Amino acid sequence: MAPRYYTTPIYYVNGDPHIGHAHTTVMGDILKRLNLMRGDDTFYSTGTDEHGQKNQEAIEKSGMDAEIYLSKLSDRFRELFDRLNIQYDCYIRTTFESHKTVVTKVLAHLHEKALIYKKDYTGLYCVGCEQFKKESDLDGHGNCPDHQRPPIKQTETNYFFKISLFQDWLKKWLMSDDNLIQPLFYRNEVLAMLVEPLEDLCISRPKSRVWLGIELPFDTDYVTYVWFDALLNYITNVGYGISSDFDKWWNNSIHLMAKDIIKTHIIYWPIMLKAIDVAPPSRFRIHGYWVGEGGQKMAKSLGNVIEPNDMIDLVGPDGFRFYLAKSMGGTDAQISKALVLSTYNTDLANNLGNLHSRVVKFVDKRFAGRVPPKTRTFPEDRALQEYVAEKANETVMNCDLISIPNLIATSLEIADRLNLYFNDAAPWKMVKIEEEKERVHSVLYAMLDCLRMLFELLTPVIPETASKALVSLGSKPVGVAAARHTFLPDGLRQHATFGEIVDLFPRIDN
Ligand code: MSP
Repeated sequence: MAPRYYTTPIYYVNGDPHIGHAHTTVMGDILKRLNLMRGDDTFYSTGTDEHGQKNQEAIEKSGMDAEIYLSKLSDRFRELFDRLNIQYDCYIRTTFESHKTVVTKVLAHLHEKALIYKKDYTGLYCVGCEQFKKESDLDGHGNCPDHQRPPIKQTETNYFFKISLFQDWLKKWLMSDDNLIQPLFYRNEVLAMLVEPLEDLCISRPKSRVWLGIELPFDTDYVTYVWFDALLNYITNVGYGISSDFDKWWNNSIHLMAKDIIKTHIIYWPIMLKAIDVAPPSRFRIHGYWVGEGGQKMAKSLGNVIEPNDMIDLVGPDGFRFYLAKSMGGTDAQISKALVLSTYNTDLANNLGNLHSRVVKFVDKRFAGRVPPKTRTFPEDRALQEYVAEKANETVMNCDLISIPNLIATSLEIADRLNLYFNDAAPWKMVKIEEEKERVHSVLYAMLDCLRMLFELLTPVIPETASKALVSLGSKPVGVAAARHTFLPDGLRQHATFGEIVDLFPRIDN
């Protein structure tokens, strides 16, 4: 029962949630459910980042009261995650008092340790990234490559955190474990950022310019820099300074994110923790970026932005979760309405849904809605069950963020094999021959038992539909409590009565 603490980034509320936010949060949910299947105790956090200039500008543009705006937007993220059946254990908002307490405490501590100092500074600030940029970070036109806009020159007196003191420690730590960052090539990107000496981190903004933030405990004219504040959510969530469970979760922390925010997470954050004598994060798991069909960046002006709620309306929460899980590993992946729809129709309606419907409806009709009892097990049928059990166990044991697409690939491979097996065995022919009775029972039992294992394996990805499928087979949905789930042949009770048989994935013509 190894504990695991999974986190997603907390999302800016300067606009509605989009596909990338849905993605990381669905992947975290899949990993949480997989860990529970492995019998690991799991804590999963997500939430919203509600301070800083970017959010402030959005509030000002909306003309709304700040508190009302923030709650409304944060709720939109939560509603999306609820529609997607995300089983988070904690939904943090950085405007929570509990979080402000942690930020204030950490700042006071660093100030006392003389790791914070004040100085005049001129820098190039990208509001989109909420980060100062160096000339070398910009593209040939002087734009921030992620936001396609030039950063703004800012001259101010601010507080700085002496991160430069920790550079050597950081480099050593990064090299100490090849499993710290996956995919590993992102470690090289981070190391490349560490070739030059690190500049100390500006951790304040004057209130006269940025009013949306947590006040510095040692200077009320300033608020805390939004990233410094936001990163601390990860320890707030598991009770830093107040809970006896803190170490249990923190020592097994796994940060999920896309490649856009590795610098803040893998450089600033471990240093912040080191400075307050807290262990660095255990793991960073990084996925690629969603782009439009044809590889174009999604942009309103190109008309290729995909709204997660529209995708749920189109193919249901499970259809959408399935697409995300199937298509994105460690590098960029494409999405469009047409791609989501064709994956739904091909893999879910025509393959999995059709397989389930053929087998269950056939047995339902011939065996009065019950799982056929076996009087004999034929070795070839048993071999099929063993193949599925072995594949499923192996997949669940080895699944990590970037191998989630393998879980889908394995499931589809199993479905193909079951479809073929059913066609070849042709029980509709055998059923008419008295001498084949034992074999028919053995084949049909094996098919149903394999379907059971297949839908158990798919439960973390398509929880609602997999549960319906399992109930239809006379089995139970996979529980949500931490209890090791082992895939074993013959887990389906003979004579069990089928539950309601529904069309799992009706075809969608569009
Ligand atoms: N608020 C910061 C994170 C603070 S965490 C301490 C932030 N917010 S964000 O709203 O910009 O979210 C960034 C994250 O959203 C990415 O790292 C990724 O998890 C997800 N995605 C947003 N757009 C994405 C894509 N187009 N593709 C894939 N995921 C991306 O940064």
